[in-house]
Amino acid sequence: MAKLYISSFLLVIAACVCNINAVGAVGGVATTIEAHPYIVSLQDTNGSLVCGGVLIDTRTVVTTAQCLSFYDVTQLVVGVSNGARVVSIANSTFNLGFDFITMQNDVAVLILAEAVSVGTIALATEEPTNGVSGVVTTWDSSNNLVDIAVSIIGTQECGSGQYSYSEDDILATMLCGLATNTNDCGALPGSPLVSNNELVGLVSWGYGCGNNGRPAVFTDIASEESWIIQTASSL
Ligand SMILES: *[C@@H]1O[C@H](CO)[C@@H](O)[C@H](O)[C@H]1NC(C)=O
Ligand SMILES: *[C@@H]1O[C@H](CO)[C@@H](O)[C@H](O)[C@H]1NC(C)=O
Repeated sequence: MAKLYISSFLLVIAACVCNINAVGAVGGVATTIEAHPYIVSLQDTNGSLVCGGVLIDTRTVVTTAQCLSFYDVTQLVVGVSNGARVVSIANSTFNLGFDFITMQNDVAVLILAEAVSVGTIALATEEPTNGVSGVVTTWDSSNNLVDIAVSIIGTQECGSGQYSYSEDDILATMLCGLATNTNDCGALPGSPLVSNNELVGLVSWGYGCGNNGRPAVFTDIASEESWIIQTASSL
């Protein structure tokens, strides 16, 4: 029953991703592309931001699987330097273990058609310690970058029943983050969660805002790191 509820909720999220840009994140703190040069956006043909992602080298972007499976990737381009430069996608794939009902393995890799030398971020190889702080960077309704401070909650703790989720909801490829400021809301899927200068998560799903005791759920990058490295070298 819980799963059914979640799956119909996720379909609502998927249906709404296209409109999220009209809303954008609220409550974040203004930041700059210079502070997060590795962040990129996935944009549709109309220039609307549909997802976030990050550069892990000059040609490779990591984002969520939902961004490629819910959109036609041939219609997407990558905005670098907060959209100042737009680059086409040469190749892409998402984790074939991605399941849009459970949202496990919500990770994808894109290869850019041109190399960009703006900055990269390292992938976490270990899940962050429960309780450490992190920052989600995403866009507000005017496409300005904002930071949302979160307290990271480990996979086990998040599914323990202490929050809104059970262990059947929070799988090994996920971790959680509770917004420190409970008014924060609305990050685009694929937006990065960074802690200690490493990419530890990507915005994946949640019951709404990721606050008020309902943590946002992220792809756990440490659990996908070997898939990312192997896949990037195969594309
Ligand atoms: C782009 O805008 C046109 C006109 O408003 C609309 O019909 C079309 O669906 C939009 N395309 C996307 C991918 O949002
Ligand atoms: C995309 O990657 C696949 C898988 O490695 C490869 O077979 C294919 O040739 C690549 N396509 C392009 C256009 O590089």
